[in-house]
Amino acid sequence: MSVKKYIVLVGAGYWGSKIFEKLLKLKQNVIIFDKDINIHKNLKNKINSNTIIVNNLNKINNFDFDSVVISSPAQFHFEHIKFFMKLNKNIFVEKPLCINFNHIKYIKKKLINYKKTFMVGHIMHHHNAFKKILYLKRKNFFGKILYIYSSRLSFGKLRKHENILSSFAPHDLSMILSIMKSKPTITNCSGSKILSKKVYDNSIINMKFKNKINSHIFVNWLSPFKEQKFVIVGNKNMLVFDDTQDWNNKLMFIKKPLFYQNKSYVLNSKKISYIKINKNDALLDEIKYFLSCSKYKKKPISNIDESFQIYGLLDQAIKKLKINEKK
Ligand SMILES: NC(=O)c1ccc[n+]([C@@H]2O[C@H](COP(=O)([O-])OP(=O)(O)OC[C@H]3O[C@@H](n4cnc5c(N)ncnc54)[C@H](O)[C@@H]3O)[C@@H](O)[C@H]2O)c1
Repeated sequence: MSVKKYIVLVGAGYWGSKIFEKLLKLKQNVIIFDKDINIHKNLKNKINSNTIIVNNLNKINNFDFDSVVISSPAQFHFEHIKFFMKLNKNIFVEKPLCINFNHIKYIKKKLINYKKTFMVGHIMHHHNAFKKILYLKRKNFFGKILYIYSSRLSFGKLRKHENILSSFAPHDLSMILSIMKSKPTITNCSGSKILSKKVYDNSIINMKFKNKINSHIFVNWLSPFKEQKFVIVGNKNMLVFDDTQDWNNKLMFIKKPLFYQNKSYVLNSKKISYIKINKNDALLDEIKYFLSCSKYKKKPISNIDESFQIYGLLDQAIKKLKINEKK
């Protein structure tokens, strides 16, 4: 008789419960480990006969499983990663990989001889709009990129142990680095602690790439409106990826954006068009991709090297921010 194979999900709160739905869609048998003994109440009508809930991590060793998805709050990621690395499992950990960059250095070292998959939840890699942007970049759609920036604003979810930078900016950094394919330097970073003395609620990170291409990311969880705009200013086309729009309007561009008139540049705003993209469920595709990388032993896009760059930049940004705060 074959033993039932499971996948472990650590943390089934706001985001973990969405991951749980995707795992069920993918016909996985799931063991949920959550510190909250009442978690089943949140998940009530989603739980099926192939789901087990445990509230003591050591109990999971009674079951057969190869992989884990970690969606606990960021401050616990390090201890959960270490736990599952010791058991030699395929690991998917939600962003931010860890809050403390020294923990990421430790994990990177431990992963050198690790034979299993290690993937970080930088979900934008699996969003069809962003995949289209990468395709357009390969086709030289933008021409020379002159500037690239992003704003990610919303009201909440306010986190107490994690800065806005770790919470929101990994998404934008993973997109910017994938497009620019080189490492920028952080030229400046500012931010404000408004609700507590502990964590920043908003921040602007300024970066410079080689060839003097500048870039910035604005993140803010104390915004009265939601905005998720990613902008590429190229000399051939300017593009806006607005993730708050419906699928027909997510990718807007202006062809030949600038023309010269009366001794100054004018924006060719009459030439606005939209790019057709097929709708996808990025989270479902991301989890599917993790299962496939684990099965076929492929190195995921959002591997430890990508993460080391992203969180290294965030670490530099936070250091600059703290210096600026003292001024
Ligand atoms: N990729 C994305 O777009 C995205 C979106 C939202 C959240 N996230 C990430 O998902 C993770 C979870 O965020 P969330 O919004 O679901 O948080 P949440 O607070 O809603 O849920 C966390 C869950 O983990 C449980 N938990 C707390 N401490 C635990 C521990 N030590 N061991 C086991 N379980 C524990 C809690 O009981 C809760 O059920 C975070 O890393 C967050 O950044 C990613």
